[in-house]
Amino acid sequence: MKNLEKLKEFPIDERFVKSIGKGSFGEVYRLNENQVGKFLFCPSKEKLQSEYEICMFAYENSISVPKPEGVFNVLHPKEKQIYSAFVMEYISGETFSEFYQTWKIDMTEMWDLAEKENEKLRKINIFNGDFGAENAIWCPEKKKIYLVDFGHWKFNDIA
Ligand SMILES: Nc1ncnc2c1ncn2[C@@H]1O[C@H](COP(=O)(O)OP(=O)(O)OP(=O)(O)O)[C@@H](O)[C@H]1O
Ligand SMILES: [Mg+2]
Repeated sequence: MKNLEKLKEFPIDERFVKSIGKGSFGEVYRLNENQVGKFLFCPSKEKLQSEYEICMFAYENSISVPKPEGVFNVLHPKEKQIYSAFVMEYISGETFSEFYQTWKIDMTEMWDLAEKENEKLRKINIFNGDFGAENAIWCPEKKKIYLVDFGHWKFNDIA
């Protein structure tokens, strides 16, 4: 177990800083051109570290998730205080719910892609406890679906 007290401070690039998503447990801010940081409303380095670790495991097993960077001390853009944040790749796109509102198109194909990622997750013994329209991002540039929000992902016990 890493010493979580000694987190490195992660530099941010003010030109890109803005809130890009809010859920019930946290808020995600863009920190620089290519990365975002997830802050929890009830700060917990341990929870963020678990999100990082399960995301890394998925990433290493070729699941379509943002490339994880780690848990760092980051200057919170609104609070102007240092908090821990899980830093990962910025996915340029829209969640299914946003996308649906704008385009009103048949999203069956995209949803199938997300389901495929979920199936791959099950094969590596991860249970996605929070699969939904807010937690899947469609990236039109890459024509790819990314799963996000690892707060409710669990490793299944292997019998
Ligand atoms: N890597 C990313 N790149 C771009 N946008 C992201 C990224 N990660 C998360 N988001 C956006 O931020 C939103 C909130 O992130 P996330 O779902 O991880 O937070 P949460 O508070 O845990 O949500 P929930 O309440 O669903 O558990 C997402 O719905 C998505 O719109
Ligand atoms: Mg979410």
